[in-house]
Amino acid sequence: MKPIILTGDRPTGKLHLGHYVGSLQNRVKLQNDYNQFVMIADIQGLTDNTDNPSKIQENITEVALDYLAVGIDPQKTTIFVQSLIPELAELTVYFLNLVTLARLQRNPTVKTEMKQKQMTNNIPVGFLVYPISQAADILAFKAHLVPVGKDQLPMLEQTNEIALRFNKLYSPRAVFFNTVKPLLSESTSLLPGIDGKTKMSKSLNNAIYLSSTDEEIEKSVMSMYTDSKHLKITDPGHIKGNTVFTYLDIFDPNKNEISKLKKQYQAGGLGDVVLKKRLIQVLIDLIKPVRQRREALSKDKTKILNMLKDGSANARKVAQKTLAEVRNLIHFSI
Ligand code: TRP
Repeated sequence: MKPIILTGDRPTGKLHLGHYVGSLQNRVKLQNDYNQFVMIADIQGLTDNTDNPSKIQENITEVALDYLAVGIDPQKTTIFVQSLIPELAELTVYFLNLVTLARLQRNPTVKTEMKQKQMTNNIPVGFLVYPISQAADILAFKAHLVPVGKDQLPMLEQTNEIALRFNKLYSPRAVFFNTVKPLLSESTSLLPGIDGKTKMSKSLNNAIYLSSTDEEIEKSVMSMYTDSKHLKITDPGHIKGNTVFTYLDIFDPNKNEISKLKKQYQAGGLGDVVLKKRLIQVLIDLIKPVRQRREALSKDKTKILNMLKDGSANARKVAQKTLAEVRNLIHFSI
């Protein structure tokens, strides 16, 4: 039996290069060796988009298209929609009893998000408890591994506390929920935005999307910061903090050539435009085929929706089995 992986995204926008290097690329590899579940977390997406359900609905298909276009294969990966699995909501309710309010308020991921979203004084309960709902997502599938970025580690800690407390209360003699392990993606997990800010993000308006046109890619790269002291081509340039080099390091397949270019840049005599042109080509080579597959797939929305329904039906069977066991353990057995 292959180990189980559960991971997911909130459908709040199209996916970008940050998602690609941080998770999508990894999922394409992992699907061969693991029993992988990928969830489109629409219920979680609604916790901070409560007034905008149509945004969430529209982005379910956009995210699904991005998944398929990068090579997540529904024959190998179970792609499903959170709201189509009511058992996840039920498990969340049982888990609510296992976590204190103080513990939720201490969760670093939630704290950061509350600050960013300026909801410190008006926290919707649904938002505050989303880590509990996320624990239900993970434990309903009895996942062994959750591939995440560092920012999601507190979520897994919370999940494991819930698993242990559940076992202690309702299954003291035999381990029912196993604790889960993070699968941290490699060094490239945080791609800076085109403005050089630490994280590429839709809300910071600094993203290059997997659906970008060649012109959009070109415009984004031309606007990138390089080295503010590199005014003339003959000036020696700096590599550190130079967004164009950061991207070339991550995306350019020809590492030898990049190290040569770095030396030349540091010595002086290499202009930013040459580097940017190179990066534009590298990114077009990566994104264009993805965009074309995406466009072809988007012509048949029914097919996408059917894929999601099938994946969700399969995922639901797994969650139903877990919930039958859970009900039994908490003595709900009429
Ligand atoms: N919290 C994740 C995000 O914001 C999405 C998510 C929901 C998730 N449930 C999950 C990730 C379970 C991993 C496992 O992107």
